[in-house]
Amino acid sequence: MAEVEVLRDAAVLIDGNRIAWVGPRREAPVGAHAAPLHVVEITGVLLPGLIDCHTHAVFGSPRLDDHERRALGVEYKAIAAAGGGILQSVRDVRSRSEAELESLSRARIAMLLAHGATTIEVKSGYGLELEAELKQLRVIKRLSGALPVTLIPTFLGAHEVPPEYRDNRAAYVQLVCEEMIPAVAREGLALSCDVFCEPGVFTVPEARTILTAARRHGLAGKLHADELEGSGGAELAVELGALSADHLAGVSDAGVRALAAGSTIAVLLPATMIFLGKRTQAPARRLIEAGAAVALATDYNPGTSPTASLPLVMALGVSQLGMRHAEVVTAVTINAAAALGLAADRGQIAPGCVADLVVAGVDDWREVAYWIGADIVSAVWTAGSACPSLRGLLS
Ligand code: NIG
Ligand code: FE
Repeated sequence: MAEVEVLRDAAVLIDGNRIAWVGPRREAPVGAHAAPLHVVEITGVLLPGLIDCHTHAVFGSPRLDDHERRALGVEYKAIAAAGGGILQSVRDVRSRSEAELESLSRARIAMLLAHGATTIEVKSGYGLELEAELKQLRVIKRLSGALPVTLIPTFLGAHEVPPEYRDNRAAYVQLVCEEMIPAVAREGLALSCDVFCEPGVFTVPEARTILTAARRHGLAGKLHADELEGSGGAELAVELGALSADHLAGVSDAGVRALAAGSTIAVLLPATMIFLGKRTQAPARRLIEAGAAVALATDYNPGTSPTASLPLVMALGVSQLGMRHAEVVTAVTINAAAALGLAADRGQIAPGCVADLVVAGVDDWREVAYWIGADIVSAVWTAGSACPSLRGLLS
């Protein structure tokens, strides 16, 4: 993770939507192509398009009351138990039309893109009933056709137990497995299935049941694991061959060892812990030194992480998680691609990769993770084409 190759005075040749060549500018094979070249000069640092491998970007209103209650000392879980938290966003999403959700989400995804995320995973999970989950997933599908960005949809029907099943959680797990997962798979609306596996939300056995049903329907596994407390979520993710185990602030030593030995990516979300006012963070150094592959993501959502900026998360990776500059670059590019099963052709500036590129208006590549909270992305290309400015994306 600490080895990134940095070229100075480099050139990248794009052919169609893929990268054809990269290397020292004076060696660029410009004569080898019959088609006329369109040359763009760049000052700054060119990075692979960033990959945000964990967001909940389809939601209604921000949760300002939760924010203030936490400031005054009420815990996230206590707010949730009192009907705030995720369930507040669920009431909100259920009550909105698909068109309304689409327009809210369009602006939010445009914001993620403006901060350099060219591939974005987006979860459902604020519907918690078949139609409302499908509504969220359809919004993701439509926006992926409408915006110059790759959206990777994940079904998160097991984000919380909805109020109508409070006294019969087994029936909700059954509904997720027997109705929701088959419907989502049939309509081709998600590539993966995620579960919020946490004491007080879904247990390890419930998560195992749900992810096993998902796999039968061709959906890869992901897991919100050991976010606030350790409960064996990381171990379960590895046992099931999940693409990623996410959060991990409460991961156990056994969980760290499991992640190091397996191929599941450890996705860390430092902005979430900061926004929740927690003073702890996932043990990034221990994970990396044990040999786990670590990715970073925004967790963009209205309850615990309302930031659309991966560069901000990279800066937090250095200052809060103790990661090296090179490690945070790896964590939002190739490792984040792996957390989505896309490492074969995303997350690198290399021949054959999708031509998703980001320019940061800085001199030294390490500054991308340094100017905390700044708008450092000055241009973005996706699939070989220049993206309009944020304003252009919104109009
Ligand atoms: O990743 N942990 C569960 N899901 C989100 C929070 C969602 C919410 O509070 O709305 C998370 O932190
Ligand atoms: Fe999350």
